[in-house]
Amino acid sequence: MAASSSTLFFFAVLCFVVASVVGNSFRSQNFIRSFAEADVENGPINLELFKLLGGSRQALSFARFAVRHGKVYGSVEEIVHRFRIFINSVDLIMSHNSKKLPYQLGINEFADMSWDEFQTHHLGAAQNCSATGKGNHILTDEKLPETKDWREDNIVSPVKSQGNCGSCWTFSTTGALEAAYTQQTGEAISLSEQQLVDCAGGFNNFGCNGGLPSQAFEYIKYNGGLDTEESYPYVGANGACHFRNKNVGVKIADSVNITEGSEDELKHAVGLIRPVSVAYQVIHDFRFYKSGVFTSENCGSGSMDVNHAVLAVGYGVENGMPYWLIKNSWGPKWGMNGYFKMEMGKNMCGVATCASYPIIENQVFK
Ligand SMILES: *[C@@H]1O[C@H](CO)[C@@H](O)[C@H](O)[C@H]1NC(C)=O
Ligand SMILES: *[C@@H]1O[C@H](CO)[C@@H](O)[C@H](O)[C@H]1NC(C)=O
Repeated sequence: MAASSSTLFFFAVLCFVVASVVGNSFRSQNFIRSFAEADVENGPINLELFKLLGGSRQALSFARFAVRHGKVYGSVEEIVHRFRIFINSVDLIMSHNSKKLPYQLGINEFADMSWDEFQTHHLGAAQNCSATGKGNHILTDEKLPETKDWREDNIVSPVKSQGNCGSCWTFSTTGALEAAYTQQTGEAISLSEQQLVDCAGGFNNFGCNGGLPSQAFEYIKYNGGLDTEESYPYVGANGACHFRNKNVGVKIADSVNITEGSEDELKHAVGLIRPVSVAYQVIHDFRFYKSGVFTSENCGSGSMDVNHAVLAVGYGVENGMPYWLIKNSWGPKWGMNGYFKMEMGKNMCGVATCASYPIIENQVFK
């Protein structure tokens, strides 16, 4: 135990060493990796830091967290600050998990970030999505499957990561289009979020400060297409528009809005048509979601409450609680391999408040 403790502690110290040695160029994750793979048993222990954080279980767990997530902190003060936030996050997570609710929280890469910071870097400003209002999805008598998971049909593309940019809406949009494309052609495709960040402003979208999939679909329809990821890669910051017609991967013929708040329409669309872009309100504990069915009495469901867009790829029932199965854009390490479940039937956190899905060109209603 003693040996592994000092090993773990050294990793956290490394972050500091790396930061001070390479200054602004420490962005390269390779430094961390090469240090982490070095012979740590013989490495120096930073005594100053040891005095600051102590050798408690929490300090060790913080060190382990810092290494696992490749954290790089620029100063001793920063490390102490992050450690304090980490302790608060762990308290929140443990106190939640002791309540035996339908969902569990876990330490993830956001544990050293305050809720304020998280909102600033990962969520868009609340969007008024009431323009979707009365939708144009057509209900039919066709029987819905009991449960659905479009991943089993191999049309859902891999989970991506939006990084420090409130561009969730672009990932929700590409996720819906990638699934629609694969459903139609049988071929995989990855599409450009960056084009939406850079070019879709005319349709009431704001790059890294938020937007809506329904408005992104409108932009793509009138723009004449969306480029491939490869031709227009993601950088996670606002930039100038570089759309090139020759790199278009999909074109949109039309899009369908789910009537505001109608989970019946949403279920019909997800069950019978394909994955659907949805938005909802992220509240503070949600960022630590680990597993189970998320439910809350603290989130809003109005058209001004939603602050995060994602992709509903199915539904089911867990321990008697019906849920939506949803793909997030916070990387594959978050939640359940990048996915989460959200209670179905109460328009939980506004999950059906501004939902929509695209019809790509050459595709007809089923
Ligand atoms: C939201 O947009 C609708 C119409 O698009 C408008 O009538 C409503 O006043 C807006 N709500 C807010 C709070 O801005
Ligand atoms: C769907 O909602 C968007 C706004 O979010 C709107 O621009 C678009 O016209 C709507 N589409 C239809 C078919 O009503």
